[in-house]
Amino acid sequence: MKTHWDRLAGDVDALSGAVQDTLQLNGGPGAYEADEQLIIALDFGTTFSGIAFCFPNQQDTKVASIVDWPGGESAPKIQTLISYDAKDTNKFSWGASVNRMSDSIIGIKLLLDPSQERPLYLPTGNLQRDIRKLPKKPVNVAADFIHAIYQHALTEITKMVPQGYMSLCQKKFVLSVPAVWSDAAKQATLEAAKMAGIFPVTLIKEPEAAALYTLHSLDFALNVGDAFVVCDAGGGTVDLISYEIVAITPTLQLKELVPGTGGMAGSLGLNQRFLDAVKNLVGEDQYHELRKTKGYWLAERCFDREIKKAYRGDPNEEYFVTFPMADLEDDRGNGLVSNTWRMTGKDMEAIFAPLITDILRLIDDQVKSVKIKRPDKGITGICLVGGFGSSQYLKACVEKEHPNVQVLQPNDAWAAIAKGAALSSLPRKASVISTSSTKHYGIELWEIKDDGKDGGQPTQNWRDGTTRVAKVGPPIPPPRGLHGRWVSIVRVCLSHTTSDELVHPGR
Ligand SMILES: Nc1ncnc2c1ncn2[C@@H]1O[C@H](COP(=O)(O)OP(=O)(O)OP(=O)(O)O)[C@@H](O)[C@H]1O
Ligand SMILES: [Mg+2]
Repeated sequence: MKTHWDRLAGDVDALSGAVQDTLQLNGGPGAYEADEQLIIALDFGTTFSGIAFCFPNQQDTKVASIVDWPGGESAPKIQTLISYDAKDTNKFSWGASVNRMSDSIIGIKLLLDPSQERPLYLPTGNLQRDIRKLPKKPVNVAADFIHAIYQHALTEITKMVPQGYMSLCQKKFVLSVPAVWSDAAKQATLEAAKMAGIFPVTLIKEPEAAALYTLHSLDFALNVGDAFVVCDAGGGTVDLISYEIVAITPTLQLKELVPGTGGMAGSLGLNQRFLDAVKNLVGEDQYHELRKTKGYWLAERCFDREIKKAYRGDPNEEYFVTFPMADLEDDRGNGLVSNTWRMTGKDMEAIFAPLITDILRLIDDQVKSVKIKRPDKGITGICLVGGFGSSQYLKACVEKEHPNVQVLQPNDAWAAIAKGAALSSLPRKASVISTSSTKHYGIELWEIKDDGKDGGQPTQNWRDGTTRVAKVGPPIPPPRGLHGRWVSIVRVCLSHTTSDELVHPGR
């Protein structure tokens, strides 16, 4: 039976073959067209990063992922890890080549804007202290990682297409960022990309990229008018947007139904909560010693790679975590014997609980907003993508909460963000034709209230005798700009007003 990776490798073979076909059609290497392009899409994730690429001028363009990585790893994404040489910060190892026992940097993406709100259930680690401990500024660390992964991608792509063709191609980049990323974080990401030699860059929202790819792969099973909530649950963030299918042929066209939402309820939080649970189990003093041992790292790895993925919600299930070579006091009452902790399904439930609650609330908010927008049609499905999105437990929880909606975990969902980001550069295949604004810069749009459509919205009575509602999240069909009447420029300001704040005191 073909494995997932065989299929990915198949993608790459098909792509490589198609490029060769293009060369043949163009009359061989001497007859390249000057406007050949290579699109490289980077999903710079908190815990894992991936790269997808395509040659848009090719006939029947296909998007492929890089699946071979230094360190012998074969997967559509590689750990976003970097470890600097203690003596020379120009030297570093990254991805699977990093020795995890060394002082490696994880979650650099979350340090790009440390002022972003973090959920209360995560340990109150001192972010400023974490940043001070770095050998370079977060943006420089991100730039080093991006440069390394990009150079590796170029090497891999060059293995598939002739060198001459590669150097002729104009390279364009698409970088995915969480839908809820602050402007400062987006700016820092762009800066890091520029330092890494990546330019010009188009940014795309991670769940938008995920939606483009997953719905494009599902288009045979879609109907015009279907609506999907796409939830990208990753390592650091959980991002959601909802889309309606506007057209399927000749190209898939999506309309964003409600503005993107999200939070920091990613799977890294499970690891942090697991380590907190270990601290509670063994006590501060033993924990302090344990942290210095290889056993601690091996136990965290076992939780990260196996246990959290295996949990399906059964309270009677048992999971064994071993801290090899540690010298922990037995605590039979709590299941700690001979340096092995017998975790129960209940322990696992407690670790997952606040993150699951957060994700369910985020999904519920999207579902409710879609239902308000389409009271007669409701929602067709909820797509879970991203690493955490592949959790069977998360799926079961979402199904329980939304018994009448189909919950989908599409095949290839882990690579969906990078592939969707590359696909966004191929509008003849799939595109988002209308988005909803999440922020408004200096301009507020108030329209005369329509009792039929605007029930429940905050209103204002204007001097002209009209009752107006603030238009939050109106559809913006690119490239023509906002539809609707611009009624007032209240101020040109540098700061933004968020959707929630878009209620101006009476004027
Ligand atoms: N079945 C699972 N249950 C819980 N977590 C999982 C599961 N499978 C993978 N993960 C976690 O998902 C994360 C990787 O997912 P992904 O690549 O989508 O995240 P990311 O892109 O690094 O993060 P972000 O999108 O938040 O920046 C890792 O933290 C991994 O441990
Ligand atoms: Mg991600």
